[in-house]
Amino acid sequence: MTGYGGKILEDRSREIERKRRKWDEHAERYDEWYERFHGAVEHYVDWELLKVHLPKDRNAKILDAAGGTGRITLPLAKMGYSVTLCDISPGMLNVAKEKMRREGVSDKVEISECNVYKLRFADESFDFVLCWDGKTEAAKELIRVTKKGEKISMFLINKYGAAISKFHEDPDSALALVKSKSSYVYNEEEKYKAVSVEEARELFEKEGVKVIEIYAVCGMLDLLSIPKEIQESRSWDEKFFKQVTEMLLRLSKEPSVKGLSRHLVLYGERT
Ligand SMILES: C[S@@+](CC[C@H](N)C(=O)[O-])C[C@H]1O[C@@H](n2cnc3c(N)ncnc32)[C@H](O)[C@@H]1O
Repeated sequence: MTGYGGKILEDRSREIERKRRKWDEHAERYDEWYERFHGAVEHYVDWELLKVHLPKDRNAKILDAAGGTGRITLPLAKMGYSVTLCDISPGMLNVAKEKMRREGVSDKVEISECNVYKLRFADESFDFVLCWDGKTEAAKELIRVTKKGEKISMFLINKYGAAISKFHEDPDSALALVKSKSSYVYNEEEKYKAVSVEEARELFEKEGVKVIEIYAVCGMLDLLSIPKEIQESRSWDEKFFKQVTEMLLRLSKEPSVKGLSRHLVLYGERT
C-alpha cells in the first residue's frame, strides 16, 4: 500500500517537474501572445467578463492561482486589490515580479510558488479566487480557500469545443470525448479534464457553489474566419477590434453557441 501511494506521489511530482520546466522555458515569451491581435482580443474579452464579478470592496483579497506572468494580477493590483499570485513556475513568477516592480504595484502583490492541487492557504482565505488554466480537478481545493458568500472563477476545457477543434488531428480521441468514453484532452503534452457546460455546472454545484454564469471563451475567434495575418498582427484598426470584441462578448453568453467554444469560464458563489 505504502509503495503504491509512493508511486502515485512520485508520478505526480514528476508530472509537476515536467510542467514547471515547460513553463519556465515559455516564461520570457509568454506575454508576447497578448501583444498580437488574437491575444489582445482574448485578453479584452476575458477582462470585460471578469470586471463585472469583482468584489465591490477594493480592499478585498484575491487569489490568482496558476496566474503565470500576472496577466490578470497586474490590472487587479492597479485597481487596489491585494492579490496573491501563485504558480508552479519560478520563471513565470520572475517575469510577474519584474512587471509588478516596473508598474509600482509590488506592495499589492504577494508572489507564491505553489501547486494549485495543494494550496498552502487556510480554508476561506480569499474574497475572490480565480484559476484560469483548465485545472478542473483543482476545483475542490480552490473552493476550499474561497470565503463562503464570495466568488470563484474557473477556466475549464470545454468538451465539445475541444473535440471539434481536435478532430482533424485525432478523430479517435475526439469521438471518445463526445461519446463520453474519455474526459481527457491532450494539449502540448499536457493532459486536461474536459467538461461540458452541464458537467461544469454539476461539478461546482455538488461542491456547494451556486453557478452564476458560464461564458464561452477562446476558439470563438476562429469561427469569425479572420485572416491569419490580421490575427498575428501587432497593430490593428481600432474600429475592427471593437467590432470583433463586441461580437465575441455577445457570443460568449449565447447558449446556442457555447458548445463550440474551446474553453469555458465559470463564475460561481460559494454558499
Ligand atoms: C496558460 S498559463 C495561464 C497563466 C494565467 N492564468 C493567464 O491566464 O495568463 C498556465 C500557467 O499555469 C501554471 N501551472 C501549471 N500547472 C500548475 C499547477 N499544478 N499549479 C500551479 N500552477 C500551475 C503554469 O506554470 C503557467 O504559468
